[in-house]
Amino acid sequence: MPDLLVPLYDLPVAREQEGLWVGKPLPHQSPSVLSFIGDNFSVAWKAEASVSFGSLPPKITVAVERESGRFAGFCCWDCTAKGFLGPIGVHDNFRGKGVGQAVVIAALHSMREAGYGYAVIGDAGPIEFFQRICDARIIEGSSPGIYGNPLP
Ligand SMILES: CC(C)(COP(=O)(O)OP(=O)(O)OC[C@H]1O[C@@H](n2cnc3c(N)ncnc32)[C@H](O)[C@@H]1OP(=O)(O)O)[C@@H](O)C(=O)NCCC(=O)NCCS
Repeated sequence: MPDLLVPLYDLPVAREQEGLWVGKPLPHQSPSVLSFIGDNFSVAWKAEASVSFGSLPPKITVAVERESGRFAGFCCWDCTAKGFLGPIGVHDNFRGKGVGQAVVIAALHSMREAGYGYAVIGDAGPIEFFQRICDARIIEGSSPGIYGNPLP
């Protein structure tokens, strides 16, 4: 799958979702965040997300249901390569409610504040989702891109 390029100079405003907290975790909360990612997505995404906790503040936004405290979704940046957004995931029970959009737009604003002009979404799965929410454009010739090494 190709990489996508996202301009950061004209991002939509991050909108609040009722009943949802979206923000950056504190370092001592990394075990629960990483367990959520490992248990619901993959060991590989957990490994990438662990890189986000090497910075202060961590380079990850998470969404949590305020009432229950349950994790709903997450979005990392600068974890796969510099300037890359992802991995991104929303728990099955929370899909289709704007959670993915909320964590992605919040992370993109953080990248803009950190000085980036563009973000790259590597090996993007749901291309139409990113085109819809953040004007993402396909980077021609980008597959396999940085993912081309032969390691398992
Ligand atoms: C892709 C994913 C993050 C979307 O999260 P979500 O919370 O369900 O998405 P949202 O509710 O915020 O959707 C925002 C908009 O995108 C649309 N959308 C959501 N998923 C889509 C998809 N797979 N393809 C096209 N459009 C999609 C929604 O219909 C909505 O449109 P609207 O504003 O016109 O109503 C989620 O399905 C997921 O975690 N998938 C598995 C992991 C994955 O593929 N991650 C990305 C790796 S690059």
